[in-house]
Amino acid sequence: MDPKEVKSDLVLILDYGSQYTHLITRRIRALSVFSLCISGTSPLKSITDLNPRVVILSGGPHSVHTPDSPTFPDGFVEWASSNGVFVLGICYGLQLIVQRLGGEVRVGEKQEYGRMDIEVEKSCGLFGSKSVGHKQVVWMSHGDEVAKLPDGFEVVARSQQGSVAAIENSLRRFYGLQYHPEVTHSPEGMETLRSFLFDVCRVNAGWKMEDVLDEEIKVINDTVEPDEHVICALSGGVDSTVAATLVHKAIGDRLHCVFVDNGLLRYKERERVMETFQRDLHLPVTCVDATEQFLNKLKGVVDPEVKRKIIGKEFISIFDAFAHDLEQKLGRKPVYLVQGTLYPDVIESCPPPGSGRTHSHTIKSHHNVGGLPKDMKLKLIEPLKLLFKDEVRQLGRILNVPEAFLKRHPFPGPGLAVRVLGDVTQENALDILREVDEIFIQSIKDAGLYDIIWQAFAVFLPVRSVGVQGDQRTHSHVVALRAVTSQDGMTADWYYFEHKFLDDVARKICNSVRGVNRVVQDITSKPPSTIEWE
Ligand code: XMP
Repeated sequence: MDPKEVKSDLVLILDYGSQYTHLITRRIRALSVFSLCISGTSPLKSITDLNPRVVILSGGPHSVHTPDSPTFPDGFVEWASSNGVFVLGICYGLQLIVQRLGGEVRVGEKQEYGRMDIEVEKSCGLFGSKSVGHKQVVWMSHGDEVAKLPDGFEVVARSQQGSVAAIENSLRRFYGLQYHPEVTHSPEGMETLRSFLFDVCRVNAGWKMEDVLDEEIKVINDTVEPDEHVICALSGGVDSTVAATLVHKAIGDRLHCVFVDNGLLRYKERERVMETFQRDLHLPVTCVDATEQFLNKLKGVVDPEVKRKIIGKEFISIFDAFAHDLEQKLGRKPVYLVQGTLYPDVIESCPPPGSGRTHSHTIKSHHNVGGLPKDMKLKLIEPLKLLFKDEVRQLGRILNVPEAFLKRHPFPGPGLAVRVLGDVTQENALDILREVDEIFIQSIKDAGLYDIIWQAFAVFLPVRSVGVQGDQRTHSHVVALRAVTSQDGMTADWYYFEHKFLDDVARKICNSVRGVNRVVQDITSKPPSTIEWE
């Protein structure tokens, strides 16, 4: 997608490393305004080329007093002033404005972290209809504070401790909030962002998924020549499915997809996803049954990281064979590869200054296909690379991807290999796990809990326990149930099921899955545990 073609003014975020920066972008898009995020130290040309109507300077963990603390490029203030661009600094961004425009920032006498009351001191654009004296709760997170404002600026709100909470210079179109309006702990923050964007900056809103789709299709058609072919590895997950469906809409059957059954899929998963690909989405997909190939390589392997490496390598060899077969069939090499890269991956690849992470945006070692052959020299098509996960789901809906498919819980690329602890080929561990997992997931769906749980699954433990079933002593397998809630998988809480629910599920499992005589529940959060067991 070409940002310049989007029918909305652009709000550009300059990122100085705050953990909330992505949230600002998402909040603004939720107002139907297009927003992008780039590094806060980007050269002036990268900023001006995007022609934003508004620039937001994000928060960050730095102090403006630290040598080499990140800042906007020279010439930025002059460019903004002479082009009618509005600038809003949030937290560290406000302090940058104050310092760079000739004011003074000092180490605060009273640092402000967490919830804080602020009071509007002067009627102003930022707070719209809120009258002087209006109080609101906001989320603060700063050690430094404004000591002296640059010429032409006014304080428009103060915290209960008396420090500067909001400033503006409406003549020069510079504004600042010392708190974070983008977090839910600032309940009136969205309203402030809305009145800033629409009443003060008068931005045009026009960020609609239907337009994004049309624009993507146009870009793909302009990029791929009429005789060129494109390949895509489908994992069965939302991102690769939506990306492939979109490319298919653009170029039809010059798209060639492959789906690999590695023997590590869930209960009837191959049949279920192939049915969705073919019946609902009409995608041209080759299904490769590579169960034996994978399981032979995994025999006797117990180290989780070795398992992951083996699986990644096998995926590459299958994908390679698929591409070569296709070349034989078509008489020419495929030119492009579709990847379901999302915007957070792109932002992660261009990390903000001071984050200690490196800048690189190469072909990501695709979680689900475990990397791709290095010598294929395919060019990338990444139609989702400016979208967040919820926007991909929205796009999927427009493309008629079934709702149940869009809402599927995440599933790791190495599949059940990291849910059978130890050797995955031991006895019939995979079959037992598939049956147990299906009972657990189906029960969660029947109870109406599937959509509020981030991820749920069963784990096969490499131990046996003693039981008694039908007057017989048994020495059978133990399985664990794991269900977590989470925002992004980085941290997670275990889900509190009702006892009756757990009791029903455990009974059902022991009564219908041969070889299991004990069910336990995982009650650890992340951290200290991870979501998966391996
Ligand atoms: P952990 O277990 O690290 O998982 O708390 C966080 C999220 O990542 C998924 N996960 C993986 N996904 N390849 C993947 O594609 C992997 O090797 C992998 N390991 C974990 C996990 O399911 C959870 O959603």
